[in-house]
Amino acid sequence: MLARTLIKDGTVVTASDTFAADVWIDGARIVALAEPARRAAFGEPDRVLDARGKYVIPGGIDAHTHLDLPFGGTTSSDDFHTGTVAAAHGGTTTLIDFAIQSRGESLRTGLDKWHAKAEGKAAIDYGFHLIATDLADGRLDEMAQIVREGVTSFKLFMAYPGVFLVDDQTIFRAMLKAGELGALICMHAEAGLAIDVLVQRALAAGNTAPVYHALSRPEVAEATGTERALALAEMAGVPVYIVHLSAQRALERVMEARDRGLPAYAETCPQYLVLSEDDLRGLPPGVGEGEFEGAKFICTPPLREKHHQDHLWRGLRNHDLQVVATDHCPFCMKEQKELGRGDFTKVPNGMPGVETRLHLLWEGVRAGKISINRFVEITSTAPAKIFGLYPRKGAVAVGADADLVIWDPAKEVVLSQKTLHMRVDYSPFEGRKMIGAPAAVLSRGELVVEHDKWVAPQVQGRGQFLRRGTFAL
Ligand code: URP
Ligand code: ZN
Ligand code: ZN
Repeated sequence: MLARTLIKDGTVVTASDTFAADVWIDGARIVALAEPARRAAFGEPDRVLDARGKYVIPGGIDAHTHLDLPFGGTTSSDDFHTGTVAAAHGGTTTLIDFAIQSRGESLRTGLDKWHAKAEGKAAIDYGFHLIATDLADGRLDEMAQIVREGVTSFKLFMAYPGVFLVDDQTIFRAMLKAGELGALICMHAEAGLAIDVLVQRALAAGNTAPVYHALSRPEVAEATGTERALALAEMAGVPVYIVHLSAQRALERVMEARDRGLPAYAETCPQYLVLSEDDLRGLPPGVGEGEFEGAKFICTPPLREKHHQDHLWRGLRNHDLQVVATDHCPFCMKEQKELGRGDFTKVPNGMPGVETRLHLLWEGVRAGKISINRFVEITSTAPAKIFGLYPRKGAVAVGADADLVIWDPAKEVVLSQKTLHMRVDYSPFEGRKMIGAPAAVLSRGELVVEHDKWVAPQVQGRGQFLRRGTFAL
């Protein structure tokens, strides 16, 4: 039985406002935001959560995760159970994961596989995007049914030839169809075919260490991919969302498009805001894993030189970037990243991060790089609006789902694989001291995490599939 809950004496923060208010929850929904002085008028709650000295913010929405993803001969190490529990511990109450249509199969088959992975396992609410890899005749028409089922965004790749890459004609056709259906195309924007040549040349020259992952995927490859994606969307007359944008020049392409009034949107990820190519270089020979330590940091697009971080933070501050998602795609060093010892191309691409997004972004608030309202917007409200979940998710408002985080700005945590909940044997952020963390997390009105512990009676299967709306911005 879900109770009538009062979150008292907190400071509510939304994407636009900061104000003192009690938050009243009945069952799964927020039913009132009220002045604390008027508390008596609301009667007795069943449960009270004290938020004095803390912020009450909408639960995080991570619009880019890869749970249980087969990739590079192995499978990402978090499934829908462990990944969603970890997300909740970090203050994220909704995930949008990427289902995959493999080559030769229908969109339906791909999507059904992801429903089967998530059902009965997810601990928090989730939706899906669908990665389309094969849009041969007839398959485009399948998109309509998928959209009707609430999967209203499709990811297309300009990278990973032979696996995910699709050609420009396919991208353009898919964009036109998405425009008809009100769906959104998410683009992995890189010049994948040229990158492949650089990769082969690196290997032929004996350059096999993790850092060559970055050196064979230069910034210009992402910039030209981004420009091409934006141009195709402009020709099709549709909005486009660039995923995991990592670098200055790609950002400049997005800014130019937006300045011309085009509906271009882009996300970046915490790893691009706080890590750099230096991490990919690993440790000096003889120390720890030596240069192979860099495998921990292999993701695509790669980590960039440090100066890009300032551009990305500025892009977030100035609304040139709309969303911070994690691209959570964890692989253990042991037996997974290890597959690429002696050949960086065999290191499975991706990093863990679903649990640490809010902590790392909060550092930006503390440093004055973004406001507290912008923090809420880029981690929750904007992804809710862009991906058809608003105002049910991403809002502290009457009628919204009571997906809420009581955020303690004074709580100190040291990020460490030992205490984080993601099922992976390292953290790329190991040892970082953070000030600011969730004190409590509610999902649809139910207290799920308190004092860093899962406290709800049910774990697996309590998360619900979210049928998302079509693109409405
Ligand atoms: O390295 C990454 N990003 N792995 C996941 C696949 C993708 O391109 O998002
Ligand atoms: Zn991608
Ligand atoms: Zn991804």
